[in-house]
Amino acid sequence: MSETKISLYYKNVMADVIGEEHGITKAQLQDLAEKTVPAIVECNNQRKAGKIPYRDLPYVESYAKDVKAVAAEIKDGCENFVVLGIGGSALGNIALQAALNPYMYNMDENQRKGPRLFVFDNVDPMQLGSFLHWVGDKLDKTIFNVISKSGRTAETASQFLVIREMLLEKLGADGFQKQVVATTDANAGTMRKIADDAKLRTLVVPDGVGGRFSVLSPVGLLSAAMCGIDIDELLAGAAKMDELCSKEDFFANPAAINAAINWHFYNRQKPISVMMPYSYALKDLSDWYRQLWAESLGKTKDLQGNDVFVGPTPVKALGTTDQHSQVQLYREGPNDKLFTFLQVSEFSSDVTMGAEPQVAPELDYLAGQKMSKLLNAEKLATEYALLHDKRPCMTVLFDRIDASAIGQFIYLFEVTTSIAGLLFGIDAYDQPAVELGKEATFALMGREGFEELAEKIKPVADIDGDYLI
Ligand code: PA5
Repeated sequence: MSETKISLYYKNVMADVIGEEHGITKAQLQDLAEKTVPAIVECNNQRKAGKIPYRDLPYVESYAKDVKAVAAEIKDGCENFVVLGIGGSALGNIALQAALNPYMYNMDENQRKGPRLFVFDNVDPMQLGSFLHWVGDKLDKTIFNVISKSGRTAETASQFLVIREMLLEKLGADGFQKQVVATTDANAGTMRKIADDAKLRTLVVPDGVGGRFSVLSPVGLLSAAMCGIDIDELLAGAAKMDELCSKEDFFANPAAINAAINWHFYNRQKPISVMMPYSYALKDLSDWYRQLWAESLGKTKDLQGNDVFVGPTPVKALGTTDQHSQVQLYREGPNDKLFTFLQVSEFSSDVTMGAEPQVAPELDYLAGQKMSKLLNAEKLATEYALLHDKRPCMTVLFDRIDASAIGQFIYLFEVTTSIAGLLFGIDAYDQPAVELGKEATFALMGREGFEELAEKIKPVADIDGDYLI
């Protein structure tokens, strides 16, 4: 089988296709190229200076080696693998699993090559309660991977406290130590302290790599390796994309073109970026992308400290499901969106439709046809309809879905985000706005040191009956 490739197809954002009012003219594209080349160079320089270590993750052999060593130690007898994490410590794990393992993986032993996988990225008492009820008598066959760089994130910490108590009660200190792997900071933080104290197995969240850029590190690799995903292939795919994304020739660099097109449309009244995979397996990649794009690019200040309040809004949609939910708006509502479809040429399995019933000859056009043909026809049909209404569309074309292709996709969108950050003139690697909510949670939960904030929150927390109906 030939090496899998993903490609970015951007003809359908051009003025030749959707007209000059909404599309990009050749001159504008040339202008974008000139403006983007310095951003590519700057991104490459930041990498050389060690400022964006996520870009070197595909090459850090020790991470994959450590992950495989831990996986080999815990695999025997492990029937369930549970990730406790949130945001960048969960979305990549979910996306890899959905993309690279079968839909019925957890349910069907014949379709899985590893333990069942559960990722808890919330603090919903009913969801977790139901799981605890199920897992209660299977704890010795269940490994919990708590992923938190800081260890102080309330969601992950709270889940961890529940699981820790349950394990200590049912399996004792030895059991707790045996059934937990902590992925956390190498030296500092609450989780590191706990892990060292309890002598837990640990893996490292690399220094300087933010959660949303960490899927190709032990954060995303352990659950993938446990569930039979070829992590070497994943990293090789990312490295392959790195070659393209490092090119200082704009027209040879898909991340630069992707970033520039997104930036162009944001500046021309299209601040919404819709990612619409036509593959259920790719659906959670758009969730992963949503965090990457939103947390990286949604910023009040530019690098000079000026108020800019920028940020394209990422939206996830799923073809064909959302054709019957969103496309009415997408075609007839405001022309304020850029669409990025994900399309697969060759699916790893296919389904053929049966014959039409005699009473329904109008269904004969479907009889005997492949489901993959219908799915891709619907993608083209939706794109055609959007172009008819002058909505710009791009497509990421996957030859097929495998670990290499997913590694390429992840790396492509990470570097796209970095270059877009430079074009917007903002810091793509911090997330100051998330902090206030985290601290307000501490205050509301009575954490020491947050009393003053708790007072400030009171007017919001106390329900004002005058406004309650
Ligand atoms: O992308 C990010 O930095 C965030 O989404 C974090 O991953 C998330 O807040 C979890 O943080 P921590 O790993 O410290 O628990």
